[in-house]
Amino acid sequence: MRLFIAVHFSQAVKQVLIHTMDELRRQSVSGNFTRPENLHLTLAFLGETKEVEAAKNAIDQSVVSTFSITVGGFGHFGSLYWVGIEDNPQLADLAKQLHSTLRGSGFQIEDRKFTPHITVARQVRINCRPRVLVPNVTMPVSRISLMKSERMDGKLVYTELYGRNLL
Ligand code: 2AM
Repeated sequence: MRLFIAVHFSQAVKQVLIHTMDELRRQSVSGNFTRPENLHLTLAFLGETKEVEAAKNAIDQSVVSTFSITVGGFGHFGSLYWVGIEDNPQLADLAKQLHSTLRGSGFQIEDRKFTPHITVARQVRINCRPRVLVPNVTMPVSRISLMKSERMDGKLVYTELYGRNLL
């Protein structure tokens, strides 16, 4: 199965992301917009694997307490559009710990720099630079989730297999 480790959002952040998608959709010709229930921030992408227990262990072994992130800003990598996360040493450290533990357990984690972002749309076709203002919203990160990704009837469905609440 296809696994990744992620953070889910507060209602306030979700509302901002949904508004952002509405604005982008209004200004674009077409695009594959993230379903609101699928919005997440990826900490680590594990790819196809059966090693669920090792993935859970990596989550349990990370040394981290609840911390805050600030969501805001908007940009794109080619046709993929994202909302950003303000630079955050605790988030970077958490991702680093997870990547290192996962690699130690044999997972092939990509070596490129961790660039936290929230994908709001893929394959966007747009004729002009979108005018979208994303306000900053701060939220606590108080749970880390191991997620399964699968296609069901053509739709991408994410299911939480395991979650750890942070103190
Ligand atoms: P993306 O939003 O930039 O595509 C589930 O697919 C999550 O894992 C997405 O947030 C996705 O990021 C992320 N991810 C990271 N590396 C990936 C890869 N090589 N293939 C697919 N998804 C990846």
